[in-house]
Amino acid sequence: MKTELDQIKQAGLQRSLYSVMTAPTGRAVLDGREVILLGSNNYLGLSTHPEVVKASAEAVRRYGTGASGSRLITGNCQLYSDLEVKIAEAKSTEAALVFSSGYLANIGTIPALAGEGDLILSDALNHASLIDGCRLSKATTHVYRHCDLAHLGLLLAQSGKFRRRLIVTDGVFSMDGDIVPLPETCNLAETYDAMVMVDDAHSFGVLGRSGGGTVEHFGLEGREIIQMGTLSKAIGGLGGYVAGSQVLIEFLMNRARGFIFTTGLPPATLAGAATAIDMMQATPELRQRLSSNARQLKNALLEEGFPLLPSETQILPLILGSAEVVSQFADALLAHGVYAPAIRPPTVPEGTSRLRLSVMASHTAEDLQSAIAGLVAAKSTLHTNS
Ligand SMILES: Cc1ncc(COP(=O)(O)O)c(C=O)c1O
Repeated sequence: MKTELDQIKQAGLQRSLYSVMTAPTGRAVLDGREVILLGSNNYLGLSTHPEVVKASAEAVRRYGTGASGSRLITGNCQLYSDLEVKIAEAKSTEAALVFSSGYLANIGTIPALAGEGDLILSDALNHASLIDGCRLSKATTHVYRHCDLAHLGLLLAQSGKFRRRLIVTDGVFSMDGDIVPLPETCNLAETYDAMVMVDDAHSFGVLGRSGGGTVEHFGLEGREIIQMGTLSKAIGGLGGYVAGSQVLIEFLMNRARGFIFTTGLPPATLAGAATAIDMMQATPELRQRLSSNARQLKNALLEEGFPLLPSETQILPLILGSAEVVSQFADALLAHGVYAPAIRPPTVPEGTSRLRLSVMASHTAEDLQSAIAGLVAAKSTLHTNS
């Protein structure tokens, strides 16, 4: 382990932990110092919304801190059904199933849907939890070039005899911020009799008029799409879900090991998430503020000549190349009072290490100005040092 750790350190790929000592809003205290937070997924600021906090607090007082069992034994409660009804409504599906995390939802659902003798087609930039789901499934997995419909179509056309075909893709790509071409992906799926599973982790609460995610964004309600997502990002809590047909949900309850073999979520988390979904739907201004904040930061950074990927969302990746350079940049940025995580391989492909800037609705104009000033100052430090 020591030898391997030394190799990780030498390659500039060591991971370490910061302590966030306040709520994750525009400004937070990180390891004892106040910073502008450009690394949180609390996109709408709902983790501190007074109504959400109140609902969570009431649930903890009433039910205690934990679920005390897996959902199929003693860990289920009415709060689950209430939350699942809300998710299904938000997603325009017949039903939904809540898992204890988004990671568990993916590693539970994919192997339930596909196994030996089946084919999975997976976007090259999919999240690790989708990749792990594919690995666990033992299905034949072909990776198609990122959002490349021609490549996906070719792989489907050449696929030959498989029992089932499953296309899996991020909705908003977690490290790139771009949006899947879902209508065209679904058309290909229909042509080749494949299922589509979209991971809305970074789009639920964000895309679509009422925050429903990629399906609402593209107006694809009514199409047979397996919509997975998390309650841990714009919803501000914890938990994963899958939304789709009643048959799918019943099937997953019986087949998804990531659902069956783990403890249910704490009641406070369920109550908080249900209220956060209400708030997310009732407050479109939060979505508008998020999108205008993202636009403001993006335009300012492009004007300053920063190499941003062409993201259309709140995730703005600043591509810096090597792991070493991105780590130096992140350190320099922190010294200027701004935190953004350095994302390196294996999270992203070799040579594409980046700062992942994520914007929140709770950032004020002043926060964004200070963030831009910090980024410009960090860039000049880097040039001076090199
Ligand atoms: C695209 C994507 N899918 C799934 C997950 C896992 O979700 P969770 O953090 O709720 O386990 C994440 C978050 O890390 C993600 O970015």
